[in-house]
Amino acid sequence: MPMAAALGAFAGTFLHRRCFLRPPRNPTGKTLRTAAAAANRAASSAVSTTEFAPNTLDAKVSNGTDQLACPKVSNGTDQLACPICYHPLISTREETLTSSLATNMECVTCKKAYVNNGQYLDLTISGGSKEFDETMPPSTELFRTPLVSFLYERGWRQNFVLGGFPGPEKEFEMAKEYLKPTVGGTVIDASCGSGLFSRLFAKSGLFSLVVALDFSENMLQQCDEFIKKEDISKENLILVRADISRLPFVTASVDAVHAGAALHCWPSPSAAVAEISRVLRPGGVFVATTFILDGFYPAVPILSAARQVFTRATSQHLYMSEGELEDLCRACGLVGFTCVRNGSFVMLSATKPG
Ligand SMILES: C[S@@+](CC[C@H](N)C(=O)[O-])C[C@H]1O[C@@H](n2cnc3c(N)ncnc32)[C@H](O)[C@@H]1O
Repeated sequence: MPMAAALGAFAGTFLHRRCFLRPPRNPTGKTLRTAAAAANRAASSAVSTTEFAPNTLDAKVSNGTDQLACPKVSNGTDQLACPICYHPLISTREETLTSSLATNMECVTCKKAYVNNGQYLDLTISGGSKEFDETMPPSTELFRTPLVSFLYERGWRQNFVLGGFPGPEKEFEMAKEYLKPTVGGTVIDASCGSGLFSRLFAKSGLFSLVVALDFSENMLQQCDEFIKKEDISKENLILVRADISRLPFVTASVDAVHAGAALHCWPSPSAAVAEISRVLRPGGVFVATTFILDGFYPAVPILSAARQVFTRATSQHLYMSEGELEDLCRACGLVGFTCVRNGSFVMLSATKPG
């Protein structure tokens, strides 16, 4: 775990022993009118001060997004876009989307070519560059190393339980609840790492297309190896290298974005969530987990100031409070923010209105 993650997990473990579940808030004033929402609210209130017990998390997931959902889901084609001009990509061969991803692609407008190396399609802006390689902040670079990528599912990720993460299977079950309105469509597993959740999404058969997306070449390589080892079909699963702040998808074309344990690693959370908001179709759902840090912390001016100085000096975003996460989603045009917490773990969800 990076130092910041370790600190956050440590602090969170001691500061937030309770599991909070707040009723979905309603920025538009239009939701929460249905009987289902009322039931959700009642259930949420009933458990809001309950001590955390892992097997009760199912009941605690309040789906504050289903009232906003649009029944339309995408058919899994023509969503990939050039990360420079956001216009659609076409295969150099005339085949279906998934099989065409075994080939290079090019932008219909600027004609820039994007390379598929057999493991993943590189849709970063600098992907095909011969000399230039983008250097990112430490929380991104750390995961590009072969060692961390190799260790990630071999012990690293398991440590997150110390910070209150319930574990991948439970997290997946919780995420599925939030993603119900988008079943049948396309889900992007953003910052997928070695594909822990991408593989679960693919195996579930719930989505017509699963995009495993990460900036780290080594994480994607690990992901590809796990897919082969687990004998998972790639018919509805594609691996894409991309920067979360420059998502290679057509605007309003994606049904769901899942981002497990990644928000705190993103160089610019606001640029990332704005991009997620851009690519989501109306009614599309964003669900993410991260470490949270609040309680007395944001209220103490010296601690807030120290965090600001640290962030500015290192480009490293320390964990946010629940209020900041909600504000971030709202600032990026997402509504119906709701979350489930346990220790320093939080799963949040928000929806693209329309
Ligand atoms: C802690 S891992 C999370 C992996 C997995 N989603 C999970 O739930 O365990 C964070 C991931 O964020 C990715 N990441 C960091 N910066 C990124 C960026 N700018 N664009 C895309 N992914 C990024 C890292 O490569 C890493 O795989």
